[in-house]
Amino acid sequence: MTLPIRIAPSILAADFSKLGQEVRDVVDAGADWVHLDVMDGHFVPNISFGPDVIKSLRSYTSAFFDCHLMISPADPYLEAFAKAGCDGITVHAEAGPHLHRSLQTIRALGKKVGVTLNPATPLAAMENVLDDVDLILIMSVNPGFGGQKFIPAMTEKIRAAKALIGDRPIELEVDGGITAETIGAATAAGANVFVAGSAVYKGDGITAYRENIARLKAAAENGRG
Ligand code: DX5
Ligand code: ZN
Repeated sequence: MTLPIRIAPSILAADFSKLGQEVRDVVDAGADWVHLDVMDGHFVPNISFGPDVIKSLRSYTSAFFDCHLMISPADPYLEAFAKAGCDGITVHAEAGPHLHRSLQTIRALGKKVGVTLNPATPLAAMENVLDDVDLILIMSVNPGFGGQKFIPAMTEKIRAAKALIGDRPIELEVDGGITAETIGAATAAGANVFVAGSAVYKGDGITAYRENIARLKAAAENGRG
């Protein structure tokens, strides 16, 4: 099943002093989704923002809010993120002992269900919940910070995830170190959703963002061949 290529800019790389405008600009510049990186200073060594910030951004766009929870535990907060206006919620398989329950909770809240794995976690960690998810996110850096380098071994992991997905209509997303140079290999391996923070939010405002997104999309389509 071939799903459309989607670019999901991470607002982690945006100017936090004008986040609403930064979200609107990136969507006007051609972003398909908006990627929201939530960090708790416990599961990952950095702190970003929570549901109240997401709620305040909701009125700036109707674009899909792709929420990546790097928090542990996640379960007590899922409802708050759903109510804040997230359209999809992705949890880490490593974040708690009851992944299946977390996924069921997201489903019951009426949101798209995502699961993600750190670079060192084998795909086997989500094999048994494959039919409970709408999205698989392969982390291609260790989560916590933007601006890191794509870990080359993750290309093979993307390929293996794609094979596992088979004909299921599951979005295959990659997060970390995505640039015009690395995106093609990720597309060729089977990914269709690309998180990009620093590669999108560079340069000055919407004109630069439009060029950055166009370059990523072209390189992604190219990788598809
Ligand atoms: C890392 C985050 C990523 C990050 C991507 O913990 O999940 O979404 O912001 O940033 P870049 O594109 O700069 O690697
Ligand atoms: Zn992310």
